Order: sequence, then C-alpha cells, then structure tokens
Amino acid sequence: MMTAPTSAVFICLIAFLTVSPSTALVAPSAKLLELQASLLAKVNTAMSLNPTDHTSVSGGDKHEFGSSTWFSEASPNYLTGVSSYQCKSTIGLDCWMGPSYDVPHSLLRIQECDDDTFNLSCDIIPRGATPIGSDPSQLEKYYGDDRIQWYKSAATLATSFLPPSSSFSKRLIASPMNLQIGGLPFSDVERLANEHQDFFLTATQSAQQIPARLRGSFNLRDDKIRQFFYRGEIEELVAEFGDLGNVIAASQTGPVAEAYVGGGS
Ligand SMILES: *[C@@H]1O[C@H](CO)[C@@H](O)[C@H](O)[C@H]1NC(C)=O
Repeated sequence: MMTAPTSAVFICLIAFLTVSPSTALVAPSAKLLELQASLLAKVNTAMSLNPTDHTSVSGGDKHEFGSSTWFSEASPNYLTGVSSYQCKSTIGLDCWMGPSYDVPHSLLRIQECDDDTFNLSCDIIPRGATPIGSDPSQLEKYYGDDRIQWYKSAATLATSFLPPSSSFSKRLIASPMNLQIGGLPFSDVERLANEHQDFFLTATQSAQQIPARLRGSFNLRDDKIRQFFYRGEIEELVAEFGDLGNVIAASQTGPVAEAYVGGGS
C-alpha cells in the first residue's frame, strides 16, 4: 500500500512520463526567446515599430503551437513590415522592405533541437526588376566578398546542413546567400543571428533612396516575392499542421495582396 506522499510522487511520475515528449520540444527555451526579443529590439531602435492587429485578425496571434505579431513602422520609411513569430521550438524574425530602398528583405529562423543545438536559416532576398547578378553594384553592396566570407565561415561551424525547403515557392525566392545550417551551440547561433541582423540594419542606414520612377518595378517584384513566400509557408505549415497551417502561414507572412484577393486570410 502506498502512503499519500508516495502515491503523489507516483502520480507526478506518471504525468511526467505521459506528457514528457520523446519527440520534439514544444516551445523555445528562455534564452532563445531572449535572443529573439533582443534582435527585435535592435530593429525597433533603428526603425521604431508598432505592433498591428494583422495577426489577431487572421487568427494566428496566438495559436496552439505558438504566436506571431506583425509590426509596421511608426512612420513608414524603410519597411513594409516585420514579422516576429514562434512556432513550436522555432522562432522567426522577417523584415520585409518597402519600395523606397533597394536593401534586400531579411529572413531569419532559428530552430531549437532537443539536444540543445540549434538550426539557423537566414537569407537576404534580392529585390527589384533586375535578376541578381545583372547589376554589379547590387552584388557589391549586398552580396560582396565580406558577405561571402561570412557565409563560408558560418558554414564551417555547422555540423549539418539543412535540406532546401520542400516548397518550390520558397526555393524560388532564396538567394545564393541562403544559409541553412544545423547542430550549432547557442553561442554560435546567437552571434550569427546578430551579425545577420546587424548587416541588414547597417545596410538600411546607409542605403540610397530608389528613384521614384523605379519604385513601381520594386513593388511589382516585392508583391511576387511576398506571394511566393506566403505559398511556401502554406505548403510547409499545412504539411505539418493541417488546416491550422493556413492560419499560421497568413500570420507569419503578414498582409499579402494575394491573401486579400484569393481568400487566404
Ligand atoms: C534541425 O535540422 C535537422 C536537420 O535538417 C532536422 O532533422 C531537425 O528536425 C531540425 N530541428 C528542428 C527543431 O526543427
């Protein structure tokens, strides 16, 4: 016969074994959430962000597996908006540029694994009507030797490489600088994420304005890029979460023209 304290311990143990996942983490750890908050704070310092109600309207501000917020600039200048999200043990911070400057969009995603290692995916997405490689000044500014070295040395830290996205749409918008590495200790992922974010923010601070006559072509291309990203999010997230994936995708992408027309949100 068990005494009361013993049975309480026993019940706790059963409860622990029942809910303790033999599979994956269900949420990011505090240190990863802190990293996300500090990266977002950096963007906020540079660009002064306001949270919007986009994700509460689309239903993904809080969901079964995480949360997401879409921020806009307090006085719109650089950005279309910023998406900050958590989904299971993944965090993301995506900065989508507006048509005034030619700085690439910045995508960042970190996945926390059970063994306290981290997967890092980051990219700077080329924009405008000219395909990457046609305009040498673009290559020099955003995909120059220093960036190539950065990518190389980051890749040497990896103990694994993440597979390309299963989504064609995501692969379509990826740049040659799309870094997808795994097995990193937190200290490496923290440094690389900061360097990625700093590069983007420094680039925006020194960017020249796009001449008004070229902004239409930036807008056109950006709409396409955002739509491809949205479709990619749907493909990846529906595969993982079923119907709820549509809601998470709409929230993590932020407002997209296609969502208004096609009924994605
Ligand atoms: C990290 O990447 C590896 C390799 O692709 C993958 O097997 C693992 O599921 C990823 N971890 C998370 C938490 O997504």
